[in-house]
Amino acid sequence: MRQIWITRAGPPEVLEVKEAPDPQPKAGQVRIRVEASGVNFADILGRMGLYPDMPPIPVVPGYEVAGRVDAVGDGVDPVWAGRDVFAMTRFGGYADAVCVPINQLFARPAGMSAPEAAAIPVNYFTAWQLLVVMGSLKRGETVLVHSVGGGVGVAAARIAKHLGARVIGTASAGKHAELRAIGVDDLIDYRTEDFETRTRELTNGRGVELVLDAVGGDSWKKGYRILAPTGRLGMFGVSAAASGKERSVVAFLRMLTGIPWFQFNPLSLINANKGVFGVNLGHMWRELDRVRGWGDQLLELWAQGVVKPKIARSFKFEEAEQAHHFIQDRRNIGKVLLVS
Ligand SMILES: NC(=O)c1ccc[n+]([C@@H]2O[C@H](COP(=O)([O-])OP(=O)(O)OC[C@H]3O[C@@H](n4cnc5c(N)ncnc54)[C@H](OP(=O)(O)O)[C@@H]3O)[C@@H](O)[C@H]2O)c1
Repeated sequence: MRQIWITRAGPPEVLEVKEAPDPQPKAGQVRIRVEASGVNFADILGRMGLYPDMPPIPVVPGYEVAGRVDAVGDGVDPVWAGRDVFAMTRFGGYADAVCVPINQLFARPAGMSAPEAAAIPVNYFTAWQLLVVMGSLKRGETVLVHSVGGGVGVAAARIAKHLGARVIGTASAGKHAELRAIGVDDLIDYRTEDFETRTRELTNGRGVELVLDAVGGDSWKKGYRILAPTGRLGMFGVSAAASGKERSVVAFLRMLTGIPWFQFNPLSLINANKGVFGVNLGHMWRELDRVRGWGDQLLELWAQGVVKPKIARSFKFEEAEQAHHFIQDRRNIGKVLLVS
């Protein structure tokens, strides 16, 4: 089988395909022949040496796969063999065979393709935790979604519209028409417009009830300011730390110094009627039962056509390097995948 390794911290060219023996499922695990693997921004930060959660380099990244079970370990119901599935992986997903514990596995419903399934776990579980579990978005409220053209962004826009909210999104200008077509109500080109000023204009000065922000740094400061009373700021990433394709100490420090370390304090939160929260799906492994519950709800929404992963582009396995360039060149609208 083949795996894609991050061989050292650096630009996309450090990704290398290597052959390895097929992994054997341990007790409680199944082996999946992978047809599609999700590419996430966390993989990019990891490749740049900016992701503390990732095991030390060299490492095979990858948080999610879809394919078919071809072997089961001891203690696993043999009925799983031959089933079409998707799974969350704790790294190692950039491979054409992976072994995963049974509790990280979901059966794929009839009609769900492997690429569609591989686009669900990270993007939709994260969006669900942000909007529903912690953000409590309600009908009639307004949510500002940063990077609304990204994988999480598109998923969040779809769920927010389903909940009956108004969606304002930030994205590069070239993506606006397509994002409008998938339901984003108002778009802000944050590279030429100040999103704080523009959001105020779009909401007649009131602000929004929820902000989803994985840009980080200074962006969180502005996001907090544009919360309407009862508004919540959900923080879940630091894309701003990745200004180029290699690690930049300057960009990292700029992001760090932009963080509103002192703006949110208990008294300011009380007096402003605002809330702040953080989300890191990668730190929810001890809460897998709950995450699985979100997955079950999302599968129901898939059956209703609400969860509809948008695939920006599928790259061949050996084109992982181009897949990373594609995202860092800000060209994706929706999910980027590797397919075998
Ligand atoms: N905490 C969690 O559990 C969790 C889970 C998933 C993702 N995340 C975070 O959420 C963010 C989005 O993830 P994703 O996988 O949805 O992203 P993605 O699909 O890879 O989206 C990339 C898009 O983000 C925008 N962007 C903003 N700043 C960027 C930068 N410095 N470099 C390149 N692109 C940038 C670009 O779109 P525009 O130019 O149109 O803005 C780009 O097309 C990332 O920060 C990621 O780490 C967090």
